[in-house]
Amino acid sequence: MILVLDFGGQYNQLIARRVRENNVYCEVHAASDFDKVRELKPEGIILTGGPQSVYVDDASLPPLELFELGVPILGICYGAQAMAKVLGGEVKSASVSEYGKTEIEVSASKLFANVEKKSVAWMSHTDRIFTAPKDFVVTASSSDCPIAAMENPAKNFYAVQFHPEVVHTVEGTKIFSNFVDICGCARDWKMSSFVVDTIAKLKAKIGGGKVLCALSGGVDSSVAAVLLSKAVGKNLTCVFVDHGLLRKNEAAEVADVFGGFDLNFIKIDAGERFLNKLRGVVEPERKRKIIGEEFIRVFEEVSKKIGAVDYLVQGTIYPDVIESGLGKSAVIKSHHNVGGLPDFVDFKEIVEPLRLLFKDEVRQAGRELGLPENLVNRQPFPGPGLGIRIIGEVTADKVKIVQDADAIYREEIFKAGVDKNLAQYFAALTNMRSVGVMGDGRTYDFAIALRAVLTSDFMTAESAQIPWDVLSRVANRIVNEVKGVNRVLYDCTSKPPATIEFE
Ligand code: XMP
Repeated sequence: MILVLDFGGQYNQLIARRVRENNVYCEVHAASDFDKVRELKPEGIILTGGPQSVYVDDASLPPLELFELGVPILGICYGAQAMAKVLGGEVKSASVSEYGKTEIEVSASKLFANVEKKSVAWMSHTDRIFTAPKDFVVTASSSDCPIAAMENPAKNFYAVQFHPEVVHTVEGTKIFSNFVDICGCARDWKMSSFVVDTIAKLKAKIGGGKVLCALSGGVDSSVAAVLLSKAVGKNLTCVFVDHGLLRKNEAAEVADVFGGFDLNFIKIDAGERFLNKLRGVVEPERKRKIIGEEFIRVFEEVSKKIGAVDYLVQGTIYPDVIESGLGKSAVIKSHHNVGGLPDFVDFKEIVEPLRLLFKDEVRQAGRELGLPENLVNRQPFPGPGLGIRIIGEVTADKVKIVQDADAIYREEIFKAGVDKNLAQYFAALTNMRSVGVMGDGRTYDFAIALRAVLTSDFMTAESAQIPWDVLSRVANRIVNEVKGVNRVLYDCTSKPPATIEFE
């Protein structure tokens, strides 16, 4: 395994993920936690970036002892400067900062094996190494940073001022692969090992304790629930609240899958209850608040019947951790997520077995656990469900219309093989009715809007260009097969200024 010592940089979990991509296990621990180094006996150590300057009085620096272990070490950004400082080099603030894509030139080095001599790397620094420590050679430079990389090859110490972990560093993947080779790692770690280890750790931690999980049917909570079920079996209770605003057949599919695992599965059909609460309500934020509240009420009622539990499971994944760490911004929409729910449940501790994984790693873990492909590949679906994909008042008829139209859209997109490129795609019911002609008669029916977006972070998004033949096939089928719809529109707005969902 490779151990990442965290000095507080923004991309530190990304470093771990880049290592894991090479089938080498990797964990991130606080830089101050030197005991972890002794305990885990890593084959390689990475010192991360961080916001500090190495020359301030209380700078956190790795102990000299770290460099006496005989283990290869890679320092990145602050980690590179920390290595320089501890080993006797000089680090100072530069007159010119480097931020963003920067051209670098590398020379021969094991770390840069097969790396193009000139390439673009991602920089983010003002301090830099002015003098390399004794026995180090400089192996890369940029126009404003003469020591963009340095190394002591005899000791396998490497330092890079740029960030090889971010995608903008074109040769980053090769650099991590080279470091893994330098460390002599066997490259035999797989997601199955994560699954086995996590189940063992959960077993040891929870023992005979009682565990409760609010299941949404989405990928994250499903994978978390199955991990827990493998660890504690019937001591886990999963509560799945069907608010009647799920996609077509989704509630039945979730019940089917979870019926097959060793756990207590409780499905609550609360569709009518939600519709009653939503009657006459048209304002988007009120709809969101009502759905979120009602969800809590239903969950609370069920939990009371279950009684006190020891642990509450949440399917938090790494991007959620990053996002929740960001500062406050304007409330565009109040998000509701089963993950954030129950302050009222009587429990000792929250368990988040996926906290360190990225979405695609969670999907991989789901496959290892035997979850079906249609669940593992599920696109994001908002907590308030179709309630925010029906503009205006939500009624049972409208839910049926949007479910049917959405099912056709998804089916055709999948058949055309376009789904793999899309981050999210769905049908929404506009509140607009317009005149049409069907057979020989006049119609006055609803318009369905189709949406498909490309995005990796969901904070911004662009509208995807769906092949015209696919769109016209979908439009045709929707107006023919879904009663109450006579027009289909495609939403070609990006976010911003629009949002991905309609409400
Ligand atoms: P917007 O509409 O804000 O959506 O551009 C961005 C992403 O967030 C999802 N979304 C939600 N997810 N609870 C969730 O769990 C919510 O209340 C919620 N609202 C929006 C949306 O589907 C998209 O992926």
